Amino acid sequence: MSKKSMRHQEGDPNTTGHSWDGIEEFDNPMPRWWLWSFYACIAFAAVYSVLYPAWPLIHGATPGLLGASTRADVAVEIQEFADRNGPIRQKLVDAELAQIPNDPELSGYARNAGAAVFRTWCAQCHGSGAAGVQASGYPNLLDDDWLWGGSMEAIHTTISHGIRNTTDDDARQSEMPRFGVDDMLDKTQIADVVQYVRQISGQEHDAALATAGATVFADNCAACHGDDGKGNRDLGAPNLTDAIWLYGGDVADLTHTVTYSRAGVMPNWNTRLSEADIRAVTTYVHGLGGGE
Ligand code: HEC
Ligand code: HEC
Repeated sequence: MSKKSMRHQEGDPNTTGHSWDGIEEFDNPMPRWWLWSFYACIAFAAVYSVLYPAWPLIHGATPGLLGASTRADVAVEIQEFADRNGPIRQKLVDAELAQIPNDPELSGYARNAGAAVFRTWCAQCHGSGAAGVQASGYPNLLDDDWLWGGSMEAIHTTISHGIRNTTDDDARQSEMPRFGVDDMLDKTQIADVVQYVRQISGQEHDAALATAGATVFADNCAACHGDDGKGNRDLGAPNLTDAIWLYGGDVADLTHTVTYSRAGVMPNWNTRLSEADIRAVTTYVHGLGGGE
C-alpha cells in the first residue's frame, strides 16, 4: 500500500504510516496544555501516595507520612461527644427511674439518645416506628396495651432482663401450656374455647360453642388470663378482650395458640447496652404514647 494516498493534501501533518484500506492516521502531537496537565497529575499522584494512605498491602494500606486517618478523626469526634454527654448520662443513671419523664432536661436527652438506641437495637423486631408487626409475636410499643407493664420500672425491667431468654436468670418468665400437644384439652374443647375467646374479643362467633367454651376457659385459662380474660401482667398473659393481637385473633391463629402455645422471646440488654442507654431507651419507649 502506498504511503501517500491520493487524498493527502499539502500542509497536512505527517501520517503515522498506518493505513487501513487506504484510510491513514495523522500523527498529531498532544496539545501542550493537555500534556502538562498529564505530567502534573502524575507528579501529584506520586507525592500524594507518599504523604497519604495509598498503597494496599495485605493488612491495610501504607499509612503515609502525614499520618492522616479518617478513622482516627471519627474516633476523636465520638470521644468528644461522649465527654460532652458524660455528665448528663451520669445524671440519667443516678436519677429515680419514675422521675426521669418529669425532668425536662433529662427526658429530652433520654428520648433523643433512646431513639437512636431503638433504631440500632430494637427496630429489627419491633419495627422502626415501634408499631410492632401485626400478629408476628413482636408487640406494638405505641399503644397502652402492655404485656408486662408500662411504668418506667416495668419497662426498664423488661428491657434489662428480657423475656423468656436463657441468658438472664432474672428474665421475665411464664409459660402458657401446650393444651393440644400435651393432651390437656381435646379438639372439641379447643374449638369451644376458641369460640369463647372470639366472643369476649367482640368477634363473630358460634354462640353455642362459646357457651361451652366459657367453662373450658374458667377451668384452664382464667388462672393466667383472668376471670374476665383481661390478662395478668405478672405473667405476661395478654388481655384477650381487646382487639390487639400478638399472634392473631382469627380461628386458625387462636387454635394454633391454644394447641401449641407461643412463648415469645426477647433478649436481655443488660449485657449489651450501658445502664444509661437502657434508661434512655426506656424513657423513649415510655414516651411513645402508652407510658403509664
Ligand atoms: C429479637 C427480637 C427482639 C428485639 C431485638 C427486641 N425485642 Fe422487645 N420484645 C420482643 C418480643 C418477642 C417481645 C414479646 C415477648 C412476649 O411475648 O412477652 C418483646 C417485648 C418487649 C417489651 C414488652 C412490651 C409489653 O407489652 O410489655 C418491651 C418494652 C420491649 N420489648 C422493648 C424492647 C427494646 C427497648 C428493645 C431494644 C433495646 C427490644 N425490645 C428489642 C422481641 C425483641
Ligand atoms: C400459665 C399461664 C397461662 C394459661 C393457663 C393460659 N395462658 Fe394463654 N397466654 C399466656 C401467656 C404468657 C401468653 C403470651 C405468650 C407470648 O407472649 O408468647 C398467652 C397468650 C395467649 C393468647 C395469644 C393472644 C394474642 O394476643 O395473640 C391466646 C389467644 C391465649 N393465650 C389463650 C389462652 C387460652 C384459651 C387458654 C386456656 C385454654 C390459655 N391461654 C391459658 C399464659 C397462659
